[in-house]
Amino acid sequence: MNLEVIRKDTLGCSDKIFLNSAGSSLMSKAVVDRMINYLYEEQQLGGYTTAGLYTDEISQFYEEAAKLINATSANIAFMNSSTDAYAKALSSISFKEGDCIITTNDDYISNQIAFISLKKRYDIEIIRMKNLSDHELDLHDLENLIRKYSPKLIAVTHIPTNSGLIQNVEDVGRLCKQYNILYLVDACQSVGQIVVDVMKMKCDFLTATGRKFMRGPRGSGFLYISDEVLNQEMAPLFLDSNGGQWTGFDEYQLNNKAKRFEHFERSVATLLGFKEALKYANNIGMANIENYNRNLAEKLRINLQNNDFRILDLGNQLSSIITFCQKDGKIEKIRKILNENNVFFTVSNKNNALIDFTLKNVEYAIRLSPHYFNTLEEIENVSDFLLI
Ligand SMILES: Cc1ncc(COP(=O)(O)O)c(C=O)c1O
Repeated sequence: MNLEVIRKDTLGCSDKIFLNSAGSSLMSKAVVDRMINYLYEEQQLGGYTTAGLYTDEISQFYEEAAKLINATSANIAFMNSSTDAYAKALSSISFKEGDCIITTNDDYISNQIAFISLKKRYDIEIIRMKNLSDHELDLHDLENLIRKYSPKLIAVTHIPTNSGLIQNVEDVGRLCKQYNILYLVDACQSVGQIVVDVMKMKCDFLTATGRKFMRGPRGSGFLYISDEVLNQEMAPLFLDSNGGQWTGFDEYQLNNKAKRFEHFERSVATLLGFKEALKYANNIGMANIENYNRNLAEKLRINLQNNDFRILDLGNQLSSIITFCQKDGKIEKIRKILNENNVFFTVSNKNNALIDFTLKNVEYAIRLSPHYFNTLEEIENVSDFLLI
């Protein structure tokens, strides 16, 4: 990893300490240039002719996304966001009254809301597996729940938005395979941050976004769909002409690739920008990025602990999302110092992490999320600013 080159490619990191990659990260120059240049061509030629000139480059998007998660390009669909991907995956499952979804206490707010919406419409049951005392998922409890409820779906967020936890998605995947249960992984915060391998996770669906640790543009994401799901002819509830071919007045034939989950209309400029971001991460190598990130996050967590803050991250495997508050639960002093020193960060609120923050008994947390364009020096500087 050549940090000097990476920082030169990242124009936004020169005049601030940017620690908000879990929110919306800094795009590299290559990502922005590709989108702008593509739009200039659209300005001249119109959208359809321009897209026709770049079919090979468009297909590279699928190859780069597949490479990132150890899949093949036929299993990748471009999406507008992680939530878009999640909704389409859920809509392909024919829920009926009495079905059950098993999820975790740490699953993302919008996923929880989607499950509640399914519950309201179809009267399904939502069950959240237990955590052990070290906050790892209780796999024994999960296996008991599977035997008792025969769930239709198990859904786990790999890295939650509001804490440093990395959930054990691989062992959950083993159980899903063993009991033949559909498995949906939300990898929105993990893609681009750590190695994500769908073969090891054994998931049926995996959802991802572009703008966070992937460093892609807003309005981009992808959905991975397993061969098993594609072969079972599962498809989103509302297909369009990309998803199926209209073969008779009342008939259509499904697209046999993951593209069945896409809609025809999309921003090609955004897709190509996202492709550049995926290529950039693949070229550096996700294992290199993960190692570098782990160092930064560990250093920052130790420093903040030494500064006498309350670190809110629980679990044995921790990510580059660092959440903390003052010992009295307040955050105002921290927020003020970070703002005064041009440090970019997020405040997580309890209503976005209702279960987690209720259990931790906090209303807010400061969230810092360093990424591989950050330096150890920046981490030390932020820690020094926060000596209060
Ligand atoms: C864990 C997780 N899942 C899903 C999402 C939703 O992503 P998007 O806004 O791209 O739909 C987020 C956004 O913060 C997230 O952190």
